[in-house]
Amino acid sequence: MNNDQPILHVKEISKRFPGVVALDRVSLELGQSEILAVIGENGAGKSTLMKILAGNQLPDDGEILVDGVPQTIDSVQAARANGIALIHQELNLCQNLDVGANIFLGREPTRGGMIDRQRIRVQSETILQQVGLDLSPDELVGHLTIGQQQMVEIAKAISTEARIVIMDEPTSSLSQREANKLFDIIRQLKSRGVSVIYISHRLGEVELIADRVEVLRDGRNAGQLPRHEINHQAMVERMVGREIDSYYSRTDCARDDAAIEVRRLRTFANPHHEVSFRVQAGEIVGIAGLVGAGRTELLMTLFGITPATEGSIVIGGQQAEIPDSQTAMQLGIGLVPEDRKQQGVLLPMSVRENTSLSTLSTLAQLGFVDRGREYELATEMTRRLGTRTPHIEQPVKFLSGGNQQKVVIAKWLAREPAILLMDEPTRGVDVGARQEIYKLMDDLSRAGVAILFVSSDMEEVLGMSDRIIVMHEGTISGELASEQFSEEAVMTLATGGQLDQPTHSAGGGQP
Ligand SMILES: Nc1ncnc2c1ncn2[C@@H]1O[C@H](COP(=O)(O)OP(=O)(O)OP(=O)(O)O)[C@@H](O)[C@H]1O
Ligand SMILES: [Mg+2]
Repeated sequence: MNNDQPILHVKEISKRFPGVVALDRVSLELGQSEILAVIGENGAGKSTLMKILAGNQLPDDGEILVDGVPQTIDSVQAARANGIALIHQELNLCQNLDVGANIFLGREPTRGGMIDRQRIRVQSETILQQVGLDLSPDELVGHLTIGQQQMVEIAKAISTEARIVIMDEPTSSLSQREANKLFDIIRQLKSRGVSVIYISHRLGEVELIADRVEVLRDGRNAGQLPRHEINHQAMVERMVGREIDSYYSRTDCARDDAAIEVRRLRTFANPHHEVSFRVQAGEIVGIAGLVGAGRTELLMTLFGITPATEGSIVIGGQQAEIPDSQTAMQLGIGLVPEDRKQQGVLLPMSVRENTSLSTLSTLAQLGFVDRGREYELATEMTRRLGTRTPHIEQPVKFLSGGNQQKVVIAKWLAREPAILLMDEPTRGVDVGARQEIYKLMDDLSRAGVAILFVSSDMEEVLGMSDRIIVMHEGTISGELASEQFSEEAVMTLATGGQLDQPTHSAGGGQP
């Protein structure tokens, strides 16, 4: 810490929910200009602690001191008055308002008793520039990509001129390039004397920017790491309490028959570009690319959410029309979507109900849902993925972010699709569960499932794919066979560059 007096001192905070002790006497200190990373497994209590600091939730016990003075933070306004701003893990923007209105929501500048829209526009423009977001303040937030919305959240937090900025998994929906921009912003904040609490499951990032690491485990403090002790293994050991080795377990088991073949497909989002590719049964193909390259749109088209405008899709040798998701599911396609809140889970429903949602037609063969089978299925999936929930009747909205993601994955695994589309499958998921998801992907592919997954996590793309398709501006800019895998190759293609060596037939003289 740079100063003797911590700017923020959290003392023995506890928080209980029915059936869950989310925080058990957790303490924390934050110095001025310090970047403190808070890490821990899914459900460890990170978000709960941050919501308490931001006035979204009240602690049951404990004390919060700002500049050495005890403060009651019982509202967002109170947090703001103490100079604390939180960027939520789950995006919190109003979809039907524009960017400027979102940035200044609840503290709109006024002029003669009226909201001063001109000033909102001008100030928003400056802030957007600061975070490197090339957008008009008049743009509707509902029209933005998730990555852009995340950057708007960041802009919003910075605009409050907070002294303590809390970021709860800010990079989970950002591309590498956007993330780098964010790291620049964090360094600038630090140099201006602002302190940052940074939560992430991407340990590489933590290594890169944190001054100190605080580890939470099962709602308790589980140790600290000073700057010089921050490394991957030390962090994992403290979070999980055991070593995790051989992260990626991939055995190539692609078969000869194509599970899905796409020919000259055009999507609604990218009408001027076409894509063609195939995925074999038992093959895992990763789609890499920058945010906005058209990867999510491609998956949405294959799942019938936004039907193709042109081109053809062949599934199991048969020409297929996919006008809607119902048809996609009948064709054996499953989708683990990018935005779990909107498409992935029904928040008020229980873990059990959500797990069996997509399987209901099979379970309900005789016109009623087989509760026993449903219960078994949900229990089994919860166990395999290590989903942290007091019981499977718990409404999903009460689960931590990473655990919600596990429910989405469980839901699709339960259905046993022949073709599984996954959009950022491990977003927000902790190291232990990540390994479990990779294992499940590997198992599925061995059983003949064709997997097509989009990921912005470079390590994951390189580690799990048998083949990588790289997209750039709505089209496929190149394809990499496993012997060509490298971070540079992916980045070159993702930014529209060309590889020196030929992408296909590396050996030359083909028969
Ligand atoms: N409103 C709530 N009602 C009931 N339980 C809750 C509520 N909010 C959080 N919990 C529980 O408290 C625990 C801690 O959750 P929290 O969201 O703080 O975890 P986290 O460390 O942020 O996890 P993740 O990495 O998955 O985001 C979890 O077991 C969660 O299910
Ligand atoms: Mg969280």
